[in-house]
Amino acid sequence: MNKFWAQLSEHRRRTSATTIVELFRDAPDRFQSFSAECDGMLLDFSKTSLDETALDLLVELAEQADLPSKIAEMFRGEAINVTEQRPALHTALRAQSGAAVMVQGQDVMPEVLHTLQRMEGFAGALRSGDHKSATGAPFTDVVNIGIGGSDLGPVMATRALAPYHDGPRCHFVSNVDGADVTDTLKGLDPQTTLIIIASKSFNTIETMTNANTAIAWLRTALGDQASEHLAAVSSALQKTAGFGIPPERVFGFADWVGGRYSIWGPVGLPLLIAVGRENFRAMLSGAAAMDQHFQTADLRQNLPVLLGLVGVWHSTICGYASRAILPYDQRLARLPAYLQQLDMESNGKSVTLEGEKVTRASGPIVWGEAGTNGQHAFYQLLHQGTHVVPAEFLVAACGHEMELSHHHDLLKANCLAQSEALMTGRSVQQAHELAQSRGYSGDDLDRMAAHLTFPGNRPSTTLAYPRLTPFALGQLIALYEHRVFTEGTLWGINSFDQWGVELGKELAVTLLPLIQGATDPTKDGSTLGLIAKLTPPKPKH
Ligand code: F6P
Repeated sequence: MNKFWAQLSEHRRRTSATTIVELFRDAPDRFQSFSAECDGMLLDFSKTSLDETALDLLVELAEQADLPSKIAEMFRGEAINVTEQRPALHTALRAQSGAAVMVQGQDVMPEVLHTLQRMEGFAGALRSGDHKSATGAPFTDVVNIGIGGSDLGPVMATRALAPYHDGPRCHFVSNVDGADVTDTLKGLDPQTTLIIIASKSFNTIETMTNANTAIAWLRTALGDQASEHLAAVSSALQKTAGFGIPPERVFGFADWVGGRYSIWGPVGLPLLIAVGRENFRAMLSGAAAMDQHFQTADLRQNLPVLLGLVGVWHSTICGYASRAILPYDQRLARLPAYLQQLDMESNGKSVTLEGEKVTRASGPIVWGEAGTNGQHAFYQLLHQGTHVVPAEFLVAACGHEMELSHHHDLLKANCLAQSEALMTGRSVQQAHELAQSRGYSGDDLDRMAAHLTFPGNRPSTTLAYPRLTPFALGQLIALYEHRVFTEGTLWGINSFDQWGVELGKELAVTLLPLIQGATDPTKDGSTLGLIAKLTPPKPKH
């Protein structure tokens, strides 16, 4: 076993009584030593319990795990996704250097760039109105039908870049619940709506079901011309033909782009249609800049590595089971959902690359909500609950609403207030004084003071950036992707497969006939009881 794990645990045991406030008291310049910056993106991790020794040990752990070589292997296109025997080369989709990226002896960049140009041509023609609907009118609306990685990235990014949105309106359908497609199509005109069917496998039951419903909706209005309102995004090109979608409106990507890492290529088509070529390319540039930083910066100045080391410290060494993603940026409201897939589908594993049992805590539970809304929902637990949840704040120096800068000042003040409150808490003595000032005395005073005490010493990190531009968004997403890779590498797991989603999908297929009236007495009592309860009553005549 790598000795650094044991040393880290021992160090934690010895130092856990030292508070973050005390760390600042001992080293007032701690912010300088426990923060790093890349192209305007700052990571502050000084409000955590990490000290110099812990950081040294974590860096040694990363070196022992060969993190620098593993990073190089990923960018070189080696088949690091061992269980699916393929590379994880989403970075090629945003590569800016012009250098060749080889997969099995072939440079993949010409194909990547050709597809990007085709996407840009299609999106540009839609935006300008040159590519017309079957009725001759320009398309006013685009509906993306996909789920998981074929949905969350475009949803999150389209919302994040709302100030840059000057193309047709974009809508998203993901849930197989008929309510989703119904409510989305309800306000739209099939005569001027384009449907993008986005599915890497073109096999996902939710997406195929929603696609068929949407195609039927188009056919009712357009008849045989419905297919003129369809486009597809997939790795399974042969399957798209079955939907009658002509090849010029099919955008393919290779199987070495994982679904949850696919926003950079054809899966980003709705975003490209919404914000245009220049903004889409700026997002790719932001990600490429973070790629460059991840490959070249010293581990101690490397943002994704540092964020990953903090994550490993919190999850494995401190035993904190979850992490809260708290963007003080309303347009990042879907970032927690996006990161749930990116992080939990990647690192929610209990088997190592060698097929052995993981013996220490790996990927944590990821959740969150945009600030300040979260403050009025679950921050009570963050501050006074019995679970310690590392909080990960995100905040921009400026919003896009310059005329509303007082809103933004308040937003920033709230963000900083929360990380300070989590760290400092409110002592028993301060709580007593407060209770006294509110008129409490005697036993009531003690009781009230207990309620007003905040334990503090709760860790947080903050990502601060100038403004949520396309470039900054690209940086942020790539930062989290590489953080996940860093953590997965330290835990010795494959961050690029997702076998844990298979079983439920298989069982859903076998349960459908039972839901529709077939019987299977071998099923467990709960499942049979629920099927009975969920069977609609027969209509009375
Ligand atoms: O949820 C499992 C998963 O395979 C994800 O990894 C993927 O992003 C999603 O389903 C959708 O898959 P597809 O793009 O093939 O429809």
